[in-house]
Parts: sequence; C-alpha cells; structure tokens
Amino acid sequence: MLTYRNYIGGKWVSSDSKEIFKSIDPARPLHILGYFQKSTKEDVKTAVEAAGKAYEPWSDVPAPYRAKVLFNVRDLLIKNKERLSRLLTLEMGKVLPEARGDVQEAIDVFEYMAGEGRRLFGHTTPSELRDKFCMTIRRPIGIVGLITPWNFPIAIPAWKLAPALICGNSVVFKPATDTPLCAIKLVEILEKAGVPKGAVNLITGSGAEVGSEIIKNKKIRAISFTGSKKVGEYVMQNAGLKKVGLELGGKNAIIVMDDANLDLAVDGIIWGGFGTTGQRCTAASRVIVHSKIKKKLEIALLKKIKGLRLGHGLKSTTDVGPLINKSAVEKTQKYTVIGKEEGAKLLCGGKIVKMLGNFYTPTLFTNVTPTMRIAKEEIFGPVVSILEAKNIDQAIEFANSVDYGLSSSIYTNDIRNAFKAMEKIEAGLTYVNSSTIGSEVHLPFGGVKDTGNGTREAGWGGIEEFSEEKTLYVDYSNKLQKAQIDVVKFKK
Ligand code: UN1
Repeated sequence: MLTYRNYIGGKWVSSDSKEIFKSIDPARPLHILGYFQKSTKEDVKTAVEAAGKAYEPWSDVPAPYRAKVLFNVRDLLIKNKERLSRLLTLEMGKVLPEARGDVQEAIDVFEYMAGEGRRLFGHTTPSELRDKFCMTIRRPIGIVGLITPWNFPIAIPAWKLAPALICGNSVVFKPATDTPLCAIKLVEILEKAGVPKGAVNLITGSGAEVGSEIIKNKKIRAISFTGSKKVGEYVMQNAGLKKVGLELGGKNAIIVMDDANLDLAVDGIIWGGFGTTGQRCTAASRVIVHSKIKKKLEIALLKKIKGLRLGHGLKSTTDVGPLINKSAVEKTQKYTVIGKEEGAKLLCGGKIVKMLGNFYTPTLFTNVTPTMRIAKEEIFGPVVSILEAKNIDQAIEFANSVDYGLSSSIYTNDIRNAFKAMEKIEAGLTYVNSSTIGSEVHLPFGGVKDTGNGTREAGWGGIEEFSEEKTLYVDYSNKLQKAQIDVVKFKK
C-alpha cells in the first residue's frame, strides 16, 4: 500500500509528524486507496517559505508564458481523463459519468484561465486633467491559500489553482481529508506540466492543524475556501486582513409552476436532487410546486425514484453512488428523523442501506413547510423536500425563505414567471427550465446571503479573486497638476 507525501518546493516530502491517515473507497470502506501525511503547522510554514521563494520568479514570468504551463496542464488532464475519472469515482464515490464531468470541468477551467493569460484586462479611462493618462493593471496578490472540499475533488481545486497561477500567485493548497489522492494526482500533473518548484505546494492533513495555520499565517495574503458555513465563519474570524473568497452551502430550490413541462421538471429534480447523491452545494434539496400539480408531480417523482439503482460508481448500472463517509450517512439519517418529527410526510427512502458502503436510499418528503428544519438546513445527502405554493409570488417567497442563496431554478412556460424568478430569487444562480446544477467555467459562480461573502469563482470572477487591481496615473504635462483643484479651461 502506497504512502503518499506532501509536495513542498518541488519535492515530495514526509511530514514532521511522522503520522499518516488513510483514504478509502466510500462504496467499499474496507478498500484502502493509500496513506497520506497527517501534516503539522510546521509543514505549512515550510510550504509558505517555499511559496515565498517561488513567488518572485513566477510572478515575473509574462502571463502569456504562464499560460503555456496552464495549457500543458489542460493537455495532460485530457490525456489522463479516464484514469483520473476512475480514481475520482473510487475515492469520492460519484458515478463514473459524473466523475468524467468533474475532470472535464478542470480541463475547461485550465483552458479558460490559460486564455486569460493573453487578456488579464485592466482598463483605461480619461483623466480629468490634460496630458495625464489613467489606467489599471492586474497584479498578483502573493502567496494564496486554497482549501478545497471533497465533493468536486478535481474540479474545485482546478477552479482555484488555474486562476491563482495565471495571475502569478504562488499557492499553498490543502485538499479535503476524504479525497487527498485526487489532489495528489492533480498536483503530479501540474508538476509534469512545468509549474515551477514552489509555485504550488500541497499539504495533506486536518483542518484543525493544516487549515487553521493556512488561514492564520501572516505571509499568506489570500484564502479561497469552499466548504461548510461553519468553517467559512471560522475563516472570516481568523484570516485577519487577508483577501477572503468563500463558497459555502446551499439550500437550493426548484420551482415547478402549473404551466411547466412536467416530464422536464421531473428529470431536473432527479438530476439536481440525487445526482452526486445530493452532495453538491448546488443540489436541488427543495421543490416548490404549484398546488394544482402537486399530486401529479409526487406520483411522477416517486416512479422515477423507485427506478434509481444504488451501487458502486464504477458500475455502469449504478445511478446513485455512496455518501462520502459514515458521518454523512448518520447526518442524513438524522434529518430523516427530524423531518418525520416535524410532521413532514415521508414518501419514499429514509433508510440506511444494509450493505457494505456508505449508502442511503433516495428520500422524498412532502407537505414540508418553509419553517421546518429539513426545508432550511443543508443536508448534503439524497433528500428532497416538496413544499406547496399557491402562486409564483408565494413560490419565490418560499425560495427566498432560507439563509443560503447559491443556486435556484424554475420550470415554467410562462415568460412572466420566468422573468419574475430570474429577477426576484435571492441566489447567485438561477436556471430556467433546467436543474440547479451544471454551471459552466466561463461564467461566475457563487452565492448571496450565507452562501459566501460576495466573491465569485470561475470566469472573470476567478481573475478578480486572485489578483489585485492597481491604478496607474501617468502625468506627461511636465508641470505640477492638481486633481480636484486645478480648473481646466477651454482652449480658444
Ligand atoms: C459544488 O456543488 O460544490 O454546477 C460545485 C455544478 C458544478 C459545480 C458545483 N459545475 O453543479
């Protein structure tokens, strides 16, 4: 069994702790995939030093040349897509077609960000004075800390690594403890692609030890974190004056109006609610249905859910893979109990599957009201709650009645409903006649309210997250000119 190491300053090294932890296949928990360094604060400090050394030379490379390295990463990801996707399914559990999507998202974002190497736009604007030129340029931030989740173990690190690198930053990267192998395989590709020594450093280990040091370390100038709201709040409280980008939870709703194409809506709910076994921050965990079609939708959903097959993600017959670990199963079960106690009606599922592996049956609740906990709290499992609304205004009111605001969707054939939803739903993303998941890498991704702190990832949002805008004034008048004070006269 292989023991994997940290990647610091271009070398694969063991932790000071001399301790290791394991990563397993969540569908077969006895199947160990490897052992990983249980790193310490000291390891993070060594990585920060290496990142500091690499910063000058890397940020000094013209961005179009940094882009060449990113294009190499893209090409190597394409070459290794199948191998990485299978490994991703083994370590994280999602079914193979979704794992391929995860790797494809990384390919796309490296390609997009490499393209930004020839843009990285600042802007120019007129000066209020003659013979003076005003413009902005983009500069790297410095050393940035990336802390990533297990649910997109290749795509989300790529969302952060690609923009961080194209902007010229150096990186200290801590992957989730459930998916360290995916992170190591990604960093091996970066190494092969020509990312210089120290520009990316990978440290595996716990949030309490490794994560907290990254968050607090004074030499790290920015943090990009995707994960729970609780940890997001910890980041805000402990990052000092660092630039912070947060991508936290969701309680995303699909509104189904009485004029919707019902079959389309059913497909979208199944995909959004049970895809990735509900383990996406963009998962559709609430369905807000117009009273007139509630019964019909319930019947159609039940029929589809009954056909979903649980199993190992590598099997082509599997629709729904395992949950990531035992505590995720327990948490899902806890919410089933809470839902029942609150008076919601369990239509199907709600059971831990008695087989090896972290499996839970796809679960559907109905008669859920907006104040119930299962309608408000993020479960991150295969649980969908149906709420009933009497019209579009009430549906939107219910959609907005949660603390989170990441994704949302409406199924309708009435353009008035569609535009109302697009404008009024409090979320970073609204889909029309499509599920809550499926964002593309060249558009901004992020949420409002408790989903984050207003930053956006992917697309141009990623460039803004990982660069500083610097303002430049060039005065070529050869005299002292005073903005706001000199009066500009019309030349006759
Ligand atoms: C997440 O759920 O953590 O739109 C990210 C989607 C994916 C990204 C999801 N492209 O579902």
